[in-house]
Amino acid sequence: MKRREFLGAAVAGAGSLLPGCGGGGGSAGMPMMGGPLPPGGAAFVQGLPLKSLATLANAAPEAGWFSASLIAAPADLSLLEGRTTALWLYNGLLPGPVVDVREGDHVRIAVENRLPLDTTVHWHGLPVPADQDGSPMDPVRPGATRVYEFDLPPGTAGTYWYHPHAHQTTALQVSMGLAAPFIVRAGDDPLANLPEVTMLVTGIRLDAGGQVSPGTAMDFTVGRQGEQLLVNGGRLPVHSVRPGSTQRWRILNATSARYLRLSLDGHAFTLVGTDGGLLAAPVGPLSEVLVAPAQRVELVVTASATPGARFTLRAQRHAIDMMGMGTYATEDLLTLATTAESPAAPLAVPSSLRPVASLGPPVARKRLTLTQSGMGMMAGAGSFLIDGRPFDMSRVDYVSTVGEVEDWEIVNQTMMDHPIHVHGTQFQLVSRGSGGFVTAAPHAAWIDTVDVPSGTTATIRMRQDMPGRRMVHCHILEHEDAGMMAVLEVRP
Ligand code: C2O
Ligand code: CU
Ligand code: CU
Repeated sequence: MKRREFLGAAVAGAGSLLPGCGGGGGSAGMPMMGGPLPPGGAAFVQGLPLKSLATLANAAPEAGWFSASLIAAPADLSLLEGRTTALWLYNGLLPGPVVDVREGDHVRIAVENRLPLDTTVHWHGLPVPADQDGSPMDPVRPGATRVYEFDLPPGTAGTYWYHPHAHQTTALQVSMGLAAPFIVRAGDDPLANLPEVTMLVTGIRLDAGGQVSPGTAMDFTVGRQGEQLLVNGGRLPVHSVRPGSTQRWRILNATSARYLRLSLDGHAFTLVGTDGGLLAAPVGPLSEVLVAPAQRVELVVTASATPGARFTLRAQRHAIDMMGMGTYATEDLLTLATTAESPAAPLAVPSSLRPVASLGPPVARKRLTLTQSGMGMMAGAGSFLIDGRPFDMSRVDYVSTVGEVEDWEIVNQTMMDHPIHVHGTQFQLVSRGSGGFVTAAPHAAWIDTVDVPSGTTATIRMRQDMPGRRMVHCHILEHEDAGMMAVLEVRP
């Protein structure tokens, strides 16, 4: 079916079915696009200085080891004026503490589950052994403590994150506040001279009582809508810098479904890194950068030389479905404010950063088709699938062999865009195809999540280096929970 026909079918279906799938969140069955919140409720505490994130303390005495503990537990925070919101947090923090480690480190993190349901901690994007990956096959029961342990091989320096990945409750647990950055540093970082800021973007949707509003049927079709975006747990924070100064920003999209098409008034971005770390060479200047759910970017930004000026970092309008139900309106994220100081001299970005190795020619090919069942969009939970099958953790959907390079063609036959994530390794985009045209990837980059827009095909190249069963799924968390996930078995 072509895009046009999809659209026709969808609109025909929408008229009769839309009123039935309201549920909350929006009014009269229409999704909210991040407008003022909550209806008749208190205002967000906003405009405070950007929080610099707490770092998870390393208790290991010996160099090369990182040992720490996390507690996932209910906690109350004041997000709205005069109210507290009940959240689930790591170590009581929104977002959770940053794991900040070095390539080559041996990591050992004990996680205590004080939540009322099973959880896991998934180390998103990191090449950890399958049994340390925090997959839904390996739940941590309420009251239990689980130790995760893995090595960070050389070459893994980059911006990752950790979050729960429990069976069918990932969206719920992340929406309650459980997510945090995981940064791996290289000994020879070519950008080590730049001051650095980590910005973790999450979404939160509060009801009139100031509590996180539960998922709705609509969420399960187009992803959680009507959220307010938070940066480092704050609403519209202010990031103050000396005029003219150059910084490295690590931006993480930890929202459930919000594509962040970032732009910064009066400024351009230089893209230096993606999910799995630095590019071979900087790309830019760019007026905008798209960060799909679960993706990360590293940007170099040189602030305006004008003292005392303010600029807005925003997520531009972005549509992810063909009916406008998943259209995100432009939303402000953060204010960049220059101080009254005299301008600093901007710092240059080196013209080469680090090699991004070619994986070499593929020895095998796979095709994954993103499908939707029946009328799809309006059918509620379970409508988006991979190869027509809902997730079943006891079934193996694909088999690969350790060390073999494969090309995966991911064909999106649905009416929505889907950010597809593969566990266990970083991969590279080879090309994108649409309507018979194929465009090669503009530059080599390590990614673990690829956006596959509706009606297009993305071809990725990857190699899995560790045996075991891995998840392959859409990172719109409601889609994942509703079954848009498959199992890849990597055999020795
Ligand atoms: Cu970020 Cu399977 O997860
Ligand atoms: Cu992952
Ligand atoms: Cu999806």
